[in-house]
Amino acid sequence: MKRIMTVLLVSTLLYAQNGKTLFEKYCISCHTPFIPMSKLKENFLEYNNTLLKLKAPTLNQLSYRLKQRIGNPRGDEDMHRMEVTAFMSDYVRNPNKDKSVCLEEIIKHFKTMPSLKGKVKEEELEEIGTYLYDFDKKVLQEKSVQYENFDTALQKAKLNHKIVMIKAMSERCHFCLKMDSEVLIDKEVIKAIEKDFIPVSIDVSVHILPLGLKAQLTPSFIFVDENAKIIMNVPGAWNKQDFISLLKEAKNKSKDKR
Ligand code: HEC
Repeated sequence: MKRIMTVLLVSTLLYAQNGKTLFEKYCISCHTPFIPMSKLKENFLEYNNTLLKLKAPTLNQLSYRLKQRIGNPRGDEDMHRMEVTAFMSDYVRNPNKDKSVCLEEIIKHFKTMPSLKGKVKEEELEEIGTYLYDFDKKVLQEKSVQYENFDTALQKAKLNHKIVMIKAMSERCHFCLKMDSEVLIDKEVIKAIEKDFIPVSIDVSVHILPLGLKAQLTPSFIFVDENAKIIMNVPGAWNKQDFISLLKEAKNKSKDKR
């Protein structure tokens, strides 16, 4: 097992770039790399795939879904990457919709994937697996609202008369990830945050919250004014429209307190 892990670690480093090239060679003709989840929902649930006319699930959909449904998402990451890669690698050679882990509402729009048996090598599939596994996280980081640490955020809030928005989250919380991938990367939401707020993200399974704050649930959104007074502490996950309303409410309450 130790040897497998070492090989895996070395390969993770080597594979990162190669995986992208191989994905582009073998898979991109059908699998679009990235479309935001909110847009995908609209396309599949409201428009019957007539909006985007996709040929297959997107790479961010596959990455999100496979990681959620295959193996143990809460266990060791390298182990999990291997489990997800094994599933993918088998699927590509022996596709069968009965094995699918995608949602029925999504998969019903597609014919079964043609088998790539004999066309892609085992080693190549491993490289693609690494790329697929890490894709979601990487894209999320790039596109997400950018967080500050609390002390910097409070200073910036004082300077620019803004509100500190603390997202109390945990790596293992499903609804946090859902909000990260559906709401906190939405352009309109990011614009609303950047206008009036300084965002902070704190993993409460690892760190304590500042100002003696407590979060009942993850995620919770806690709004703190420039004088470090708490405006609101709201538990729960939100969709885009409700989250934008929540931001407005926090903004209005902060005005009342002045
Ligand atoms: C000719 C088009 C085409 C190509 C090329 C293609 N796929 Fe697919 N793939 C599909 C379609 C369509 C589906 C959805 C239907 C299904 O699950 O069979 C799919 C589904 C999948 C699934 C299953 C997801 C699930 O659980 O439902 C995986 C994994 C996958 N593709 C990986 C890949 C990888 C990796 C490559 C490149 C090595 C690739 N595909 C190349 C069309 C394609």
